Amino acid sequence: MTQAQGGRGVRDRVRVGFLGCGRIADLQCLGYRDHPHAEIRAVCDVDPELAARRAAEWGAAAAYTRLEDLLGDPEIDAVEILTPHHLHAAHAIAALEAGKAVSLQKPPTLTLAELDAVCAAARRTGQPFRVFENFMYYPPHRKAKELVEAGAIGEPLSVRIKTAAGRLGDGWAVPARSMAWRTDPRTCGGGPTTFDHGYHCYHMARFFMPVEVERVHAFVHWFRLGEGAWYDGPALVSWKYAGDVPRYGSWEVIASLGLRVRSRYYVSDDRLEIHGSEGVIWVNRCTGQLLEEPSLVLYRDGETRAFHDLETDWAASFRLGGMDFVDALRSGRAAPQDGESARRTLAFALAVGRSAAEGREVAIAELG
Ligand SMILES: NC(=O)c1ccc[n+]([C@@H]2O[C@H](COP(=O)([O-])OP(=O)(O)OC[C@H]3O[C@@H](n4cnc5c(N)ncnc54)[C@H](O)[C@@H]3O)[C@@H](O)[C@H]2O)c1
Repeated sequence: MTQAQGGRGVRDRVRVGFLGCGRIADLQCLGYRDHPHAEIRAVCDVDPELAARRAAEWGAAAAYTRLEDLLGDPEIDAVEILTPHHLHAAHAIAALEAGKAVSLQKPPTLTLAELDAVCAAARRTGQPFRVFENFMYYPPHRKAKELVEAGAIGEPLSVRIKTAAGRLGDGWAVPARSMAWRTDPRTCGGGPTTFDHGYHCYHMARFFMPVEVERVHAFVHWFRLGEGAWYDGPALVSWKYAGDVPRYGSWEVIASLGLRVRSRYYVSDDRLEIHGSEGVIWVNRCTGQLLEEPSLVLYRDGETRAFHDLETDWAASFRLGGMDFVDALRSGRAAPQDGESARRTLAFALAVGRSAAEGREVAIAELG
């Protein structure tokens, strides 16, 4: 039973409505299905067959095809928004104004102005709002953050990330229609790599550091996949952190489209290295599982320590992230990312696009 409807009141049970039931809903459902105080109460997708299939799969009481019907359902406390990026702003504002708490998938919006409008709606309505970024919930990343904060590598100085896109057709099947809006410049907001996947990496660049990113530079290679469809990769992004301590970071994307990347999900091998003044942490996997290495290795004082007991399935990041939203709603605290943090990560992503397009270093502050 819900003890308080809307706003930041304490709730006993959280009843969630899913808006968009496509590819990623397979993982996004996990936290709500597994949480003892949550349920997926309704789903909504413009594709009626998909909506009906998801409702049956998740035991949801209602399947809608119209946003108004989902938002008019009084049995829903929160909306999980999983529609294409260009619809996020309108969908999030409508859900907040209908009195629902909102969890919005990354990247939150296409522009900062759109995100500002969503945040203004959250303030106006008093409804809880978060942007969901799952890499921050990936257990090896959480462990790495815990180690950094405990001083295991001294002062963190650099974050280096490497992503290798592998052979298409391996991993899970991504429907063509799920790729179509992602590669279309009118709907994707930036490249599927440097804007969409990049949002995770830019957030990781910020996640482990005590200071914000100040300046970025990017090389991005674009190639045409077909009529009105573009892919961005390979790419090389570098950044400088603010503050007196010189700190830099980089993200390299390799479009190794003949490389077999073992993966239950997207064919993407993601690796991350955090260098400190006294040690180094390597996180050796995330989405895919290219090699059977320990998921996390810590080096310090001439010794390495390998962590073999962390949960490494990428799906865990979605399950934990869903559960955290429920816990936040139940306790009345704000769930990460809040609007301000999401705005910084989005500005980073937009600065990367601008740098690559204009062939120059871009200060994040230029984005406004
Ligand atoms: N965190 C991650 O790693 C991750 C991974 C994949 C996708 N995503 C994000 O999740 C979102 C969805 O991605 P996806 O891969 O599932 O896309 P998808 O194309 O597979 O699914 C989107 C769904 O939204 C539905 N839809 C479109 N317009 C609608 C409307 N007006 N009302 C209701 N439903 C509508 C479509 O029919 C489709 O089923 C995107 O924002 C994407 O960036 C995040």
